[in-house]
Amino acid sequence: MKHFSQSDLLNNLPKQFFASLVKKTNQYIEKGYDIINLGQGNPDQPTPEHIVKKLQQAAANPVNHKYSPFQGFRYLKKAAALFYKREYGVELDPDKEVAILFGGKAGLVEIPQCLLNPGDAALVPDPGYPDYWSGIVLARAEMINMPLLEENDFLPNFADLPEEDAKKAKLMFLNYPNNPTGATATKEFFEQTVKFAEENDICVVHDFAYGAIGFDGQKPLSFLQFEGAKDVGIEIYTLSKTYNMAGWRVGFAVGNESVISAINLLQDHMYVSLFGAIQEAASAALTESQECVVKLNSMYESRRNTLINGLRSIGWNVTAPKGSFFAWLKVPGNFTSEQFSDYLLEKAHIVVAPGIGFGKHGEGYVRAGLLTSEDRLLEAVERIKALKIFKMMD
Ligand SMILES: Cc1ncc(COP(=O)(O)O)c(C=O)c1O
Repeated sequence: MKHFSQSDLLNNLPKQFFASLVKKTNQYIEKGYDIINLGQGNPDQPTPEHIVKKLQQAAANPVNHKYSPFQGFRYLKKAAALFYKREYGVELDPDKEVAILFGGKAGLVEIPQCLLNPGDAALVPDPGYPDYWSGIVLARAEMINMPLLEENDFLPNFADLPEEDAKKAKLMFLNYPNNPTGATATKEFFEQTVKFAEENDICVVHDFAYGAIGFDGQKPLSFLQFEGAKDVGIEIYTLSKTYNMAGWRVGFAVGNESVISAINLLQDHMYVSLFGAIQEAASAALTESQECVVKLNSMYESRRNTLINGLRSIGWNVTAPKGSFFAWLKVPGNFTSEQFSDYLLEKAHIVVAPGIGFGKHGEGYVRAGLLTSEDRLLEAVERIKALKIFKMMD
């Protein structure tokens, strides 16, 4: 059969770092080992029943069997605006400041193509969510890394960025609560971000995928809550984590009108819009009772406490995440992050994601997801204890 070679654009896409980990994990599973997989970011709980019911009803409605309107139904944009008003006190014009997305990932990958020309530059957090890189490469643009260091609470330090990089960049990705570090943003940080973006003409894209998951009574901050934020950027919200709807592919971008209209323009050329029944169910999720979100958050907090307290009790000096459903754990001894994750897989049948897969500054850490029951997290702690690599604390 004739082989058609891929375009240079595809050949230049970043390699899927975690593919080899998935392969190794599957080999262990095939051999029948009881693997505790803390390596992925897929919510383990089902979508709340009232949302599923809404989808079932809406799927039976012939209106939804037709093409949805371009750019989505207005009721969903209104629901997104209501959600932002209720949760964050942020006013949004549903017609001009909301764009419906096929999940957050779609928006994050589209934005560089909407705003950057070949050779332009975008600032990305390092470590960070690898999909930012994909969008930048697809736009034939360049990436400038912003190190997220533990000593800065995993927030970028704008003062450390070379001035020429700040001047060159047209776009900046941020993400709090943060994947992979579990850090959250402060009011001061977002205020500084607005100022930095204004001074340097940068469009800020705040990825708020874990907006619903904040611990110790701290509700994560929306970037749009800050004065001037809408002038300099947008926020990407997804229903994947808030309502366990990762498979449904629905989210939205909110904020700066010119960016929202650029996203809509690109999407007009690529898609029609989401299945109407999904739009109805998403609208119900955003506007009906939020009890399910409160319960989900407390479930993750309880899992976090179990894992972190357990690891500390066996002598692993780990920092507790403030939000998201990830724990960012410092690798012990002289292991690299990849060696340590291989070691845990081989010796304890536990999967964690090596930090280096999230960027150079992810080295020295592994990411563990809080996406399994507390019993399994305790079992993971027991298995790590049996490795005897941590000195017991008194
Ligand atoms: C930081 C971050 N942003 C965005 C996403 C994308 O989520 P979705 O495309 O399901 O909305 C994820 C998913 O894992 C994520 O971890």
